[in-house]
Amino acid sequence: MKETKKEQMSKTSKKGKSIFISPSILAADFSCLGDEVRKVLELGADMIHFDVMDGVFVPNISFGIPVVESLRKKFDNVFFDVHLMIVEPERYVLDFVKAGGNLITFHIEATRHPHRVIETIKKSGAKAGVALNPGTPVIFLKELFDILDVVLVMSVNPGFYGQEFISSSLKKISELDIIRRENGFNFLIGVDGGLNGENFQKVISAGANILVFGAFLFKGDTQKNFQTVIDKLRIDNSE
Ligand code: DX5
Ligand code: ZN
Repeated sequence: MKETKKEQMSKTSKKGKSIFISPSILAADFSCLGDEVRKVLELGADMIHFDVMDGVFVPNISFGIPVVESLRKKFDNVFFDVHLMIVEPERYVLDFVKAGGNLITFHIEATRHPHRVIETIKKSGAKAGVALNPGTPVIFLKELFDILDVVLVMSVNPGFYGQEFISSSLKKISELDIIRRENGFNFLIGVDGGLNGENFQKVISAGANILVFGAFLFKGDTQKNFQTVIDKLRIDNSE
């Protein structure tokens, strides 16, 4: 991987917009996780998405700090996008930075002190993101927009890969994009859940920058599906 990956959250642009592909390893084969990660990086992934679940905030348990740590040892220059679906994320954000996380995203619904959590993450040198469940309105982030690096729109109810995209998420992405443009905020918009070769262009048109793909890339033909995304991005680039 290129030296710059970790620092820059990397490239791929469409009409001047930055688009990043972030494969979610939740849908990968855990028995050969390193190979799965290498495969998507070779195909052009800009970062790797880690779905950390505690069985309390969401009805599922996935993996935690040791997985981030051991993949960091294998992939030193890759940008790690850590999505915490845990209650009271303030208890663990610094451990995930230490383990190798470059972007730490927590849920606004999971803490009483989101401003403090963002400050803690940023002071540690990592980027800070906040995720919104499908039932949470954009207005909840009003006082945080100017300090956020990423807003992650959940386009499924978090907990599992392979769910269907909730189409009202498109409105939420557009709303965030308008707020960003009208106020000159710098946050990137991520979209997580149910993305595939058919619907990902809609979320880009609505304003998304970071596309998280789970099942579409890891269950099924990884190479072919990755190529579908890259080809469609290229077509859009040349428009
Ligand atoms: C859902 C996770 C997502 C999910 C994405 O709780 O946050 O990252 O694994 O997988 P797909 O793309 O299959 O919905
Ligand atoms: Zn996720």
